[in-house]
Amino acid sequence: MGWIVETTSADETMAFGKMLGAGLGPGSVLALRGDLGAGKTCLVKGLGQHFGVGPAEVTSPTYALFQEYEGKPCPVLHFDFYRLDGFEHACALGLDEMVGRVDGVSVVEWAELIPELIPRPVWYCCLQVDGARRRIYLHRA
Ligand SMILES: Nc1ncnc2c1ncn2[C@@H]1O[C@H](COP(=O)(O)OP(=O)(O)O)[C@@H](O)[C@H]1O
Ligand SMILES: [Mg+2]
Repeated sequence: MGWIVETTSADETMAFGKMLGAGLGPGSVLALRGDLGAGKTCLVKGLGQHFGVGPAEVTSPTYALFQEYEGKPCPVLHFDFYRLDGFEHACALGLDEMVGRVDGVSVVEWAELIPELIPRPVWYCCLQVDGARRRIYLHRA
């Protein structure tokens, strides 16, 4: 079973992210898929709001690979696998110990590039671009 949501603006995608955040807590994992510019970071900005993290603080960790935001009631752990060279590279950086950390909410952009790093249970969220619209597919695995 899954859900399909359509948004027509970045603000709506953020609002959806915030709503998703309300259903997540320490140990939760949200895996995001979608092309460059699909709105993954935009959704994480919204999710961060639920945890009291300002949208300006949430940026694509494409170069940093990982960013941690102090949030309430728990930190938000923001990953981006885009520039990782695969599973071994991720493990060498200790990311395998970070994704799914029990004390925080993990959110992963480009999760499909290293599926071995994604623990279960997980929420998968796939964003598809259609002009200014985004069709967002959500399912649990
Ligand atoms: N419906 C929408 N949802 C999300 N972003 C949208 C939407 N319509 C336009 N945009 C724009 O698309 C871009 C999405 O960027 P970003 O969230 O950084 O993507 P990603 O992290 O997937 O590469 C932003 O510039 C945003 O303003
Ligand atoms: Mg991004």
